Amino acid sequence: MTQAGYKGLKGKVCVVTGAAQGIGRGIATRLAQEGCSVIFADLKTADVESAAEAARAAGGRAASFTVDVTERSSVAGLVQYAAETFGALDVMFNNAGITHGCDFLDLHERDFDRVMRVNGLGVLFGIQEAAKQMISQGTGGKIVNTNSQAGKTAWPDYAGYCASKFVVSSLTQSGARALAKHRITVNSFAPGLARTPIWEVLEADAMAAGQIHERGEMVKEFEKGILLGRGQEPGEFGGIACYLASEDSDWITGQTIMIDGGMVFL
Ligand SMILES: NC(=O)c1ccc[n+]([C@@H]2O[C@H](COP(=O)([O-])OP(=O)(O)OC[C@H]3O[C@@H](n4cnc5c(N)ncnc54)[C@H](O)[C@@H]3O)[C@@H](O)[C@H]2O)c1
Repeated sequence: MTQAGYKGLKGKVCVVTGAAQGIGRGIATRLAQEGCSVIFADLKTADVESAAEAARAAGGRAASFTVDVTERSSVAGLVQYAAETFGALDVMFNNAGITHGCDFLDLHERDFDRVMRVNGLGVLFGIQEAAKQMISQGTGGKIVNTNSQAGKTAWPDYAGYCASKFVVSSLTQSGARALAKHRITVNSFAPGLARTPIWEVLEADAMAAGQIHERGEMVKEFEKGILLGRGQEPGEFGGIACYLASEDSDWITGQTIMIDGGMVFL
């Protein structure tokens, strides 16, 4: 177990959605290493349980929960489970997300709705249900949404995804304004390109649309636009997650912090 260096972080009860793999798993694992009690939550029951089990095996306090963030009752159940299992909810990470790519003119309402439902509505439910619990505890709290560089600038080949991440930027600001009086902060962080399975979906879509001809081409093209020269590994978001979950970030709310190696300047 590493020594906790973030103010007030140790012992916090955290929920991370989309924690079966990728960025969410990286964040949840790091929080457990820092001494938080962590609920790993995801649609993928077996994978999310094995992620939590790995955190427990490394000496952390962790449990898993099967959640579908597009269902309010499922998100409410997750929050209730955190409170029952570890006694409270201090920090909610609304991280679960999906992507979709195609030519702008081919974007179908079915795919637009699907991406909006997970990335947009899922974040709204996560903020609302976590906030209700934090308000009832009277403790304040922190809500951290996983945004994207696509929530700050837009691209033609995955317009639905970009729109859904602009929703995350917007809900982060509305949530911050609505919840400050309850001592709840709402922030987001925005990865640029992280080497997770989500890129397999984007590249499969791009190949189907004839935009790229081999796997890895899209990632390489995006990496050319990253000042620091490469995409991040999923575990490289732990520091920003710990900071935003800790008292060190108490005076930040309504913000989106770019963590993209220098892709998008605001
Ligand atoms: N990888 C990147 O380059 C990148 C860049 C910017 C932003 N992001 C964002 O980071 C977040 C995590 O992405 P990732 O790259 O780790 O992707 P990933 O596909 O590796 O992981 C996403 C996880 O979310 C889960 N999930 C999907 N729909 C869900 C639902 N309805 N309910 C509960 N869980 C659900 C999946 O099962 C999966 O485990 C997403 O919000 C994504 O948009 C990723």
